[in-house]
Amino acid sequence: MEKLEQLYKGKAKKMYATDDPDVLWVEYMNQATAGNGAKKAQIEGKGELNNRITSLVFELLKARGVDSHFIKRISATEQLVRKMTMFPLEIIMRNTAAGSFAARYGVKEGTELANPILEFCLKSDALNDPFINDDAMLALRLADKEQLAEISRQARAVNAALQDIFSKIDVQLVDFKIEEGTTGDGRILLADEITPDTCRLWDTRDHSGTVEHLDKDLFRRDLGNIIPAYEEIHNRLLQLATDEGLETIE
Ligand code: ADP
Ligand code: TMP
Repeated sequence: MEKLEQLYKGKAKKMYATDDPDVLWVEYMNQATAGNGAKKAQIEGKGELNNRITSLVFELLKARGVDSHFIKRISATEQLVRKMTMFPLEIIMRNTAAGSFAARYGVKEGTELANPILEFCLKSDALNDPFINDDAMLALRLADKEQLAEISRQARAVNAALQDIFSKIDVQLVDFKIEEGTTGDGRILLADEITPDTCRLWDTRDHSGTVEHLDKDLFRRDLGNIIPAYEEIHNRLLQLATDEGLETIE
């Protein structure tokens, strides 16, 4: 596979064309951002950890019947994925109240929710990713009714599979964001990344009543260095993948 021109440089990744029109070459960068880029830092080792973590998560999801754009990891910081036409949506699932949900409804962070909550935001840096509902997504033709139903079904399936994965490594999956796209032949698939940048992950191993964040809230809220936390998530996922006999492990 040949790496060709850079197509896009985002806040966390660079996307390159390849000699196969259906395949993208993704490079994970060390850049960390929060508040839609308002806060920015270079954190040595973050790109490698997120590339390794999302690769393991996509493999573990696949073993649970959840397909994604992921093809394979090709180096410490790079992977190949299927090229998709992305829906301009941030698809958020919540199992526990936290972050903007806790603030919006005035509930304490950590409050258990009676059911998982699916939320959509319009993916737009210029507009600060505003909340959007089904009627507005349909009216703006961001997706049609069948596509929305499929995206919602997949988001709930991803949540169930991720809850299984993270509970096995003693981590509470509080909430997360995914992105979806369509392949050339119209199939809707999970894309982008699933990492501690895009999930809230709370450690459930012996800590005395305080939340131990293993995710980007450490950076967003100036709570500490993200690297040991991301390493912990990586090591636990690698152990789980090894225990499950998954292949792409080194
Ligand atoms: P952002 O654009 O939010 O700054 P990134 O730095 O992570 O985020 O950039 C990755 C970009 O690539 C995102 O805009 C994402 O929607 C897009 N993307 C993710 N997976 C695919 C894919 N399989 N095909 C095409 N685009 C993708
Ligand atoms: P929120 O509570 O700030 O709305 O975030 C919900 C989840 O979505 C949390 O796990 C972080 C993730 N997320 C992203 O990955 N990217 C984003 O741009 C936003 C707003 C949230």
